[in-house]
Amino acid sequence: MNEPVRVGVVGMGTVGSGVVRLLVESADHIERHAGRPIVVEKAVVKDLAKARSVDVPGGRLSADWRDVSRDPSISVAALLVGGLEPARTIMIDLLEHGKDVVTANKALLAEHGPELFELARRKGRSIAFEAAVAGGIPIVAAIGECLAANRIESIRGILNGTSNFILTRMEEDGADYADVLKLAQEKGFAEADPAMDVDGTDATQKLAILAHLAFGVWVPWAEIPRTGIDGLDLDLLTYAGELGYRIRLVAVATRSDGRLAMRVAPALVRIGTPLAETRGAYNAVSIVGDAVGRMFFHGLGAGQMPTASAVVADIIDTVVGRAAITFRTTGVLSADTPAARIAGVDMQERHFLRIRVKDRPGVLARITGILGEHGISIASVIQHEAGQGGDANVPLVIMTHPCGTTALRKAVDHIDASDVVSGRSVCLSVLED
Ligand code: HSE
Repeated sequence: MNEPVRVGVVGMGTVGSGVVRLLVESADHIERHAGRPIVVEKAVVKDLAKARSVDVPGGRLSADWRDVSRDPSISVAALLVGGLEPARTIMIDLLEHGKDVVTANKALLAEHGPELFELARRKGRSIAFEAAVAGGIPIVAAIGECLAANRIESIRGILNGTSNFILTRMEEDGADYADVLKLAQEKGFAEADPAMDVDGTDATQKLAILAHLAFGVWVPWAEIPRTGIDGLDLDLLTYAGELGYRIRLVAVATRSDGRLAMRVAPALVRIGTPLAETRGAYNAVSIVGDAVGRMFFHGLGAGQMPTASAVVADIIDTVVGRAAITFRTTGVLSADTPAARIAGVDMQERHFLRIRVKDRPGVLARITGILGEHGISIASVIQHEAGQGGDANVPLVIMTHPCGTTALRKAVDHIDASDVVSGRSVCLSVLED
């Protein structure tokens, strides 16, 4: 029998526990793929006294990650601690001590990727990160390896399971936003700080990583325009539904004429299209490559076992040597990677507007007049009746013909500054396919 490979698992939260469970319960199956047994030599926890859902023999538990980095028998470390610190310090320590690293921490890669990948190269080690984007969907391998023959033209994705879970529960059951967010936390979908899920940060960090793999450039995630789902309400989902659409948090990166446009924002997606049918904690990624055409990937993007599935696949890849080859040959996040700025590309799209207007004569003409002044053509208008609450404002829902985002923003600012509008209008892109 081949010698076992000894692995250290640093972080035994939702994902770490799932990884240990898979390594133990599917040991035979994993050994067949890895060509040798993979054993958990050390599992690092925050609190040794805490009860755990998965059994790790007492002597293998530790509260100090140095027990992994300093153990010469361990060659591969799974870094499954979220957030930036101490995750960055631990990753550096693991690499300095000659470990190959597997991680699911996209925030760490999006923030410190260039520095960490450079260190791994200097040390002759690899970093594998399939689990960092879209949970169980093998999208990192798909873009980085399987679609390598293609010039990627666009990526469109639902990359945050928590947001998608919240939106679908709201649209299907009329559930309350705060209640569903709590449920997403209980189910282990949300980040430790769930604000990062609902404000679009998590999806934006994942988009930065995918765009790097697809376009070979590095865009600092904080420069990507980002809007989360935290400004949405149930009425918006209902109005979108009346028009034949659902609302999804969609990450977009497109390249045309050598310019890269990127954003993360809620958008209307037509019912019946794959993104609209992506429900619950599922993620989806649609990619257009010049040779392959459009491809669609769909699967669970958050949660214990889907994410553990990707981590364990990376551990196997590392054990058999594939991760090192990929790391070396793809030059992912190498010193030669050009930094890129996002072009102010004006995407031509239909837009959905929800404007709260005073219910009095001449208001509709005023709003449509402002849109007309900015060259925005209207496809449809629905004015909903005022509710029972005696509110003097009524929602006006407008669908535009395709128009540039810049012109539309100017028009909406103009509308919001007028005295017939109450509060800020909501403006969402409409994705037809
Ligand atoms: N919080 C993330 C999500 C988990 O909801 O998608 C996976 O990165």
